[in-house]
Amino acid sequence: MKASRTTAVDVTKPDRESPAALNVEKIRGDFPILDREVKGEALVYLDSAATSQKPQAVIDKLVECYTRYFANPHRGIHTLSQEATEHYENAREKLASFLGAQTSGVVFTRNCTEAINLVAYAWARRRLGPGDRILTTVTEHHSNLVPWQMAASDTGARLDYLPVTNDGYLDLSALDDLLTAETKLVALSGASNVLGTVNALDELIRGAKRVGALVLVDGAQLVPHAPVDFDKLGADFLAVAGHKMLGPSGVGALIARPELLDEMEPFMGGGGMILDVRLEGSKWIEAPWKFEAGTPPLAEAIGLGAAVDYLSKIGMERVREHERKLSAYALERFAELEDFTLFGPWNPDHRLATFSFNVGDGRGGIIHPHDAGTFLDGMGIAVRAGHHCAKPLMRRLGVVATTRASCYLYNTTAEIDLLVEGIHRMRNFFAGA
Ligand code: ALA
Repeated sequence: MKASRTTAVDVTKPDRESPAALNVEKIRGDFPILDREVKGEALVYLDSAATSQKPQAVIDKLVECYTRYFANPHRGIHTLSQEATEHYENAREKLASFLGAQTSGVVFTRNCTEAINLVAYAWARRRLGPGDRILTTVTEHHSNLVPWQMAASDTGARLDYLPVTNDGYLDLSALDDLLTAETKLVALSGASNVLGTVNALDELIRGAKRVGALVLVDGAQLVPHAPVDFDKLGADFLAVAGHKMLGPSGVGALIARPELLDEMEPFMGGGGMILDVRLEGSKWIEAPWKFEAGTPPLAEAIGLGAAVDYLSKIGMERVREHERKLSAYALERFAELEDFTLFGPWNPDHRLATFSFNVGDGRGGIIHPHDAGTFLDGMGIAVRAGHHCAKPLMRRLGVVATTRASCYLYNTTAEIDLLVEGIHRMRNFFAGA
């Protein structure tokens, strides 16, 4: 498949000069957890697709919030509450500017899953009915699949799945058949949490727009690793996971076109989202606040603002280029391995540095990924093993589970070498067992 070059999400190698390389050693110094040992070995953290580690600046921001201005935002006239409100709204502005979105189109949620469910409840359930179709893909994480199954079941809409090719790309040749006048929503990830593939969003979004469908992009994996410009992308919704982009756990966001949020009814009711409440009924305030019922994730959102500052200072082009180089190096090293299956593209321009693989046990089977994960953990190497919340994709790949190593801006080629060394040792161990 040819690389598709986009302006909104450009993950291919720049034609012109590459951005200045990251100073990884300096960056590693910003992440205190990377100094620790696991099982007597220096930690090699290769599980950033599950969650990323936090720089000191984010940890400090959480401490600052709790020690200086922690109060309930939008709910008090006292100084602390006003300061909390200011910091919280400032974090919203930072996230909007980081993603090329409008501030009024940023809704803070608990996580990426809640952002997707917000659309499934507040938009899909109110707009869809029998005869309508939702298109998603077989590669999706459960969080961008189960909500649509539930919405389809509640509304009578039909759910279609775009297939994946054997080399790990979404099969765009099936698009013409699957995108119909009845397709009202296309929900797909920016990048696969299993295959690492960066999806051809431009082409998919163009196709969706041709049939008048809205597009939701699950940005959990892509947003932390590549520059994304929501306005240029042309999608209608973008779901974001704060903890995967150096932010704290407990906060995510739905980025949306503000006019869509204006047309939508709230997802949850409660305090903070009302204009007036009478026993006969209630009225809501405007978006984005009408979608933020209850006390929001204040410290978490402010911490996410600090993560955005950290990433912006480094520059997402440089983060992407660092990880593209890591991918190229890892693919070269993996190519040396025998009895090693990589699931996903062998092309660093089309993927994130997220590698799902299985390793042969020397007797015609594979080393169970849970055994692989345990073995590598014994060397201080943290990887994820299992179905990665993508069971339909596991079935398509013909496996029950994989081992997954996933990198971020703080990982080095030396750590890829340690992973490859671990795979060698593991094979010898299990082949001899
Ligand atoms: N979505 C996270 C992962 O892929 C949890 O590991």
